[in-house]
Amino acid sequence: MQALENFDLAFVEQFPLLERGRILYLDSAATSLKPKCVIERESEFYLNEYATVNRSLYPRAQRATEGCLETRELIKERIGALDARGVVFTKGATDGLNQTARFLLQLLHKGDEILISPLEHHANLLPFKALEEKGFLKIRELPIFEDGGIDFDSLALTDLSKVRALTIAHVSNVTGIEQDLDRIGRLCKEQGWIFIVDAAQSMAHKRLAVERSQIDFLAFSAHKMYGPTGVGALYISSRFLDRLEPLFFGGEMILEIGSKMSFQEPPMKFETGTPPIAQIIGWKEALKFQTTSTFDARAQALPSLAKSYREELSQFSDVHLLSAKESETILTMSLQGVHPMDMALLLGEKGVEVRSGSLCALGALDYFQTRSFLRISLGVYNHLEELKVFLTTFDKVISKLSFK
Ligand SMILES: Cc1ncc(COP(=O)(O)O)c(C=O)c1O
Repeated sequence: MQALENFDLAFVEQFPLLERGRILYLDSAATSLKPKCVIERESEFYLNEYATVNRSLYPRAQRATEGCLETRELIKERIGALDARGVVFTKGATDGLNQTARFLLQLLHKGDEILISPLEHHANLLPFKALEEKGFLKIRELPIFEDGGIDFDSLALTDLSKVRALTIAHVSNVTGIEQDLDRIGRLCKEQGWIFIVDAAQSMAHKRLAVERSQIDFLAFSAHKMYGPTGVGALYISSRFLDRLEPLFFGGEMILEIGSKMSFQEPPMKFETGTPPIAQIIGWKEALKFQTTSTFDARAQALPSLAKSYREELSQFSDVHLLSAKESETILTMSLQGVHPMDMALLLGEKGVEVRSGSLCALGALDYFQTRSFLRISLGVYNHLEELKVFLTTFDKVISKLSFK
């Protein structure tokens, strides 16, 4: 599809789906493509190393257990946590946020309030909404600016006496705005609120520091970090880790069953049953891949690439860009007179893969008063040479659909 100049071809070729420029992938916020090292590691585990973890004692099982522990350790370092006990394997960000909401039943009281931005992904809204519908928690809308940044001054003018928690996406999947977690963490600390962060969109390219930002719960998925599907992690701060009761019961989390059950130490007491072993092992490879200097260089180039896309897209009179100016990987737009789903369908037929629809954020559709979004999102394999191909295809498709 495109000639690669001035770009590290070998790097792109690590992603089998991108070989020979078969597709122009612009949907990394939904899920990122996998490099060969991750695919091969998972496959190698199934072919030659497969065994269960945490229970059997033969050498292969012990090696598999060690492998999972190493992933946990790498995640601990990656998020700036002091203690790997606070890193709980989950099915992904959605699972982690649902578990967090259920932990709130143990930490808060009926009638307490939680602050949530109107732009949040459903994964960071509905678990709390479900508690609201049961009459437990009350959701309070966090005042924001149009780009999704928090309006701290307006917030300070409201009655915060019943607020006990705040949850927000580090990077919005709609506007791409990056929140200042240190500042929000300080506010939560001053106010005594529980600080919950949805890091689904930020873990691919951002460094987090959960201790410095005073985060209590942090949820994310491996599949958006160039890693396998079906696995993620929930970080729980030491403030709550030992106090919380398990949400799930079964094998491996139990210590003794007497008249009253007693449980393993965290994180084991929160991890029930056989985990996604191969995926956890594959995730380690993705975490290592993310620390290579080439990856770092590619990640650092993304803001300037996003800027180029933004500048070119703003030339189209039918395109109304909604993402934040400083968005580093996400470009969301509404379209005048063209349905984003038609656009995405036709672009897809021509090998240009973008996302359309509500972006799992119906609140954001209301907020921007539109029926559907079109979103381009970038990953480390994207590069400037693709922009020309994108623009030619985009121009053809939008012209065709708008009957000009
Ligand atoms: C901001 C945000 N939060 C949560 C999620 C849910 O992630 P997952 O589907 O991996 O659980 C997504 C997925 O798109 C997201 O963009």
